[in-house]
Amino acid sequence: MSASPEQLSPPANDLDSLLHEIDALEGLVAGWDEQQRMTVGALRTAIDALNREAFRRLIQQVKQEPAALGALKGSLSDDVVYTVLRHHGLVKASLEERIEAALETVRPQLATHGGDVELVAIEPPNAVTVRLVGACDGCPAAGLTLSEGVEKAIREHCPEITEVRKAKGGTSASSSGGEHVVSFVSPFARASDAGWTDAAKADELREGEILIKEREGHSLILSRFGSRVVCYENACAHLGMPMDMGEVRNGVLVCPHHAFEYSLESGECLTAKEVQLQTHAVRVLGDRVQVKFS
Ligand code: FES
Repeated sequence: MSASPEQLSPPANDLDSLLHEIDALEGLVAGWDEQQRMTVGALRTAIDALNREAFRRLIQQVKQEPAALGALKGSLSDDVVYTVLRHHGLVKASLEERIEAALETVRPQLATHGGDVELVAIEPPNAVTVRLVGACDGCPAAGLTLSEGVEKAIREHCPEITEVRKAKGGTSASSSGGEHVVSFVSPFARASDAGWTDAAKADELREGEILIKEREGHSLILSRFGSRVVCYENACAHLGMPMDMGEVRNGVLVCPHHAFEYSLESGECLTAKEVQLQTHAVRVLGDRVQVKFS
């Protein structure tokens, strides 16, 4: 239901209230006839143009005063100032807005695999941390999803970002239901078909056991969980030592050197939560297990 002018609250000065008033007025105008709506639209466009030009001239003047420039930049932390100047195209979108816009572009593809991505932190001047969630979390192809999808999108939208870090996820693909479709291929795998290396024959892999392979200067740990194949660099996150002789107990790989424990299915370190095994992307073509080095 649209509001009448009398119903509108007195002028407010916080962003939410101001936007609410604009919404209420737009609701009111939407009920008018076309001629009236066009007149209001034209008036709004003219006022917008006048305000834009006034702000543009003001900013130009302020920029000539180094001391005032600092105050101008500082004023952008005010929601109302920032929103109005953004509306007029007089300030660039914030880094956070651009990162979110970048993530939006890859979300549809991640969703096709039951996954998603979320922004965890911006670490100025050039790094961000993101988290893959849903089926993308713990997926052996997560490295590829990150580099070919998420990272590319962020770099396109935010050239100043040169480092995209991956935070540990919250939910694992394996815990989201055993009937999920084959999950070892990244939704971005097709976009980057080069660089895959044969690592093993599918029938060499035993459920929940480790298989060590040397490929192109990498020592690899491979394992299989149902249709999912995982691949890690054979280097303990503690001192980087090989874990060929490590024991697997109930899905936990125990380093033979100082007993750091890892979930074999996700690479997560159970001894020190802040580290994990380095994951490589994996795909299975027929009886060939291929990896792409991170
Ligand atoms: S090197 Fe693995 S626990 Fe120390």
